[in-house]
Amino acid sequence: MAKILDGRKISKEIRADIIERVDRMKEEKGIVPGLAVVIVGDDEASHVYVSMKAKACKSVGFHSEEHKLPESTTQEELLNLIDHLNNDDKINGILVQLPLPKHMDENLVNSHISPQKDVDGFHAVNMGNLTLGEESYVPCTPKGIIELIKRTGTDMAGKNAVVVGRSNIVGKPAAILLLKESCTTTICHSKTKNMELFLKEADIVVAAAGVPNLIKGHMIKEGAIVIDAGTRKLDGKLVGDVEFDSAKEVASWITPVPGGVGPMTITMLLENTLEATEKLWNSRP
Ligand SMILES: NC(=O)c1ccc[n+]([C@@H]2O[C@H](COP(=O)([O-])OP(=O)(O)OC[C@H]3O[C@@H](n4cnc5c(N)ncnc54)[C@H](OP(=O)(O)O)[C@@H]3O)[C@@H](O)[C@H]2O)c1
Repeated sequence: MAKILDGRKISKEIRADIIERVDRMKEEKGIVPGLAVVIVGDDEASHVYVSMKAKACKSVGFHSEEHKLPESTTQEELLNLIDHLNNDDKINGILVQLPLPKHMDENLVNSHISPQKDVDGFHAVNMGNLTLGEESYVPCTPKGIIELIKRTGTDMAGKNAVVVGRSNIVGKPAAILLLKESCTTTICHSKTKNMELFLKEADIVVAAAGVPNLIKGHMIKEGAIVIDAGTRKLDGKLVGDVEFDSAKEVASWITPVPGGVGPMTITMLLENTLEATEKLWNSRP
């Protein structure tokens, strides 16, 4: 029977450390880390995420700003706001909540954020540096996934890792990070033939497909670490990509949905914002 990787508990521990660092920063330097979250339009789920992020910021003593823009906002207006935030000393991290309305180019908007304030890690400079193995801001969900695997105490070097999903937000950066940990890494996607063949060989499975119960217990190798980033509503319940009940009988560690990867994502956003603040102030004379 698998042990549960409790994202809520691990997040709480990390946030306690963040609070200490923020208090020290305020006391010694009079600095308060600041995060600005920008949202365009009325997408209900996106508004819930934004208020969760603002609440998390307040809970660790950050300055936080929410910029809620109507659906009719032009791309130029959004870029002007980003320019303003790029030059605002109170703001150390900027996040533009996705998805953006169809009349906007997400890559262009993300690339307008100063790479030094790109705490989501989606800017081409940060993505490029991540791929090159240079210092960069790491996208929050994949960063949280690696942190969860580390908490199992497993030495990742040489392990077979399979990532299901190849999006720029989760799958691709998660695979790059696993490679950085010296895993032998395979990416599966919707065109992969016989995914089970790859899963059966995987010591570490990262599921990020957004397909409820795609991966079942019989597809997983005995003793695998199973990290489920998937979240979809099924009959009013939030479910992951992994069929939890069958997978927990085979895996050594498994994340629940909800309460696994989700809480870690916001905690990693706080960590990236604090890191951005520390870097900025350490670089000043
Ligand atoms: N917990 C969190 O904080 C958090 C954060 C972000 C996302 N998520 C969740 O993570 C999941 C993935 O998000 P995303 O933004 O990466 O989604 P996405 O952009 O839709 O990407 C899904 C990926 O899964 C692949 N895929 C789809 N069906 C598949 C199948 N049957 N077999 C194998 N691969 C398949 C797709 O392959 P193709 O490329 O071939 O289409 C694609 O690469 C979603 O459930 C999302 O809600 C959670």
